[in-house]
Amino acid sequence: MASEHRTSIHGQWSGRMAFILAATGSAVGLGNIWKFPYITGENGGGAFVLVYLLCIAVIGVPIMMAEVMLGRRGRQSPINTMASLAADEGRPAAWSALGWMGMVAGFLILSYYSVIAGWALSYVFRAGSGMFEGATADGVNSIFTSLVSDPERLLAWHTIFMVATMIVVARGVQNGLEKAVRFLMPMLFFILVVLVLYAMTTGYFSVGLNFLFSPDFSKITQGSVLVAMGHAFFTMSLGMGAIMVYGSYLPKDTSIAKTSMIIAGADTLVALMAGMAIFPIVFANGLEPGAGPGLIFKTLPIAFGQMDAGILIGTLFFILLVFAAWTSSISLIEPVVAWLVENRSMNRLYASVWVGIATWLMGIGTVLSFNVWSGHKLFGMTFFDLLDYLTANIMLPLGGLLIAVFAGWLMHENSSKDELHTTPRGYNLWQMLVRVVAPVAVMIVFLNAIGVFK
Ligand code: PHE
Repeated sequence: MASEHRTSIHGQWSGRMAFILAATGSAVGLGNIWKFPYITGENGGGAFVLVYLLCIAVIGVPIMMAEVMLGRRGRQSPINTMASLAADEGRPAAWSALGWMGMVAGFLILSYYSVIAGWALSYVFRAGSGMFEGATADGVNSIFTSLVSDPERLLAWHTIFMVATMIVVARGVQNGLEKAVRFLMPMLFFILVVLVLYAMTTGYFSVGLNFLFSPDFSKITQGSVLVAMGHAFFTMSLGMGAIMVYGSYLPKDTSIAKTSMIIAGADTLVALMAGMAIFPIVFANGLEPGAGPGLIFKTLPIAFGQMDAGILIGTLFFILLVFAAWTSSISLIEPVVAWLVENRSMNRLYASVWVGIATWLMGIGTVLSFNVWSGHKLFGMTFFDLLDYLTANIMLPLGGLLIAVFAGWLMHENSSKDELHTTPRGYNLWQMLVRVVAPVAVMIVFLNAIGVFK
């Protein structure tokens, strides 16, 4: 088959470990440390966490395998990969639309992701200057409010983060990033351990654990099941081509099943640890778990303000959060840049500049949604909420559903067996999950959320 001879014009990871680190760098990001705790808080805790974990296991892992597999077989940007694979397998060329939808989703996500990463960046300096020393919950709250109510400051940080992202993308993902991630991911993990240990000293650790892990199903609504599923896609970077494009740089002999499970495991662990660090602080200080997007910025600084070496730990924490966001943001936009290089014969630098400018402009909408436009709502949501809802809860699951259908039903078995080369039992399990369980689960959650079963 044609794919045997394909190579990527963008290069390859140096090996299995480089891919694991890059894909884990993509998966572990603001989604784990910023978003997971606040949506868990908004959706009532334990039952939501359980649904999320279930989605990771039965939907996320098999679809991640499918997405990596398609990428490695196509060896191009998601649009061209889908076009080539559709041709290989004798399927309609319209499957390239899946790549298009992913590209748009990545662009939209990065536009707001960069604004939030800008918050983290500004907090590096707040923590470093000792602003949180001895601060009360009220003090920390007003530091946050004064940041988000000032559009110029938000725009400045958003600009810096976008420039940083596009510099890395312009230099090629393999160049420098592999090394950066190798050092940063263990550091981030270490600081999270320190924060969890601090949370244990608050006297509210068990209250936090209880909130996270004891499910109260009366708190769960149809909407929150959709949010949990959407978040499973978001946190694993699935459904929009980021993992597909990273897969296209994967050496031929690496096991897709093993690497996917490692990535999923690391991603989940980081999210749960973030929850274990944050909720005890929330309850110890009488804060509101459902405080929304500002949650970690209003809680963790209290801990930094109280612990020994809090300035150091606080500064390091926000630096690492920025790095985690950085290694995710490059993967959000890599499909677009790779496509421009392939189809418009642009060089990487030129493509990155244009994509960066467009994303930056789009981000202004999110900047304003926290202040000037905060009163303007569509379907009860601000511009930021709407983008987040549309991408995470609709576009990513839809993209994932289509990936599962293509990989499970439309690709010939000898193609997928050749690419996955697992044991026969492993293959059958994967096939059952990707053919039936994942698509049916995604459909049920969608239909449920629009009220079909009411
Ligand atoms: N997984 C990243 C996070 O959790 C976000 C992301 C989504 C990155 C989709 C790439 C693609 O923060």
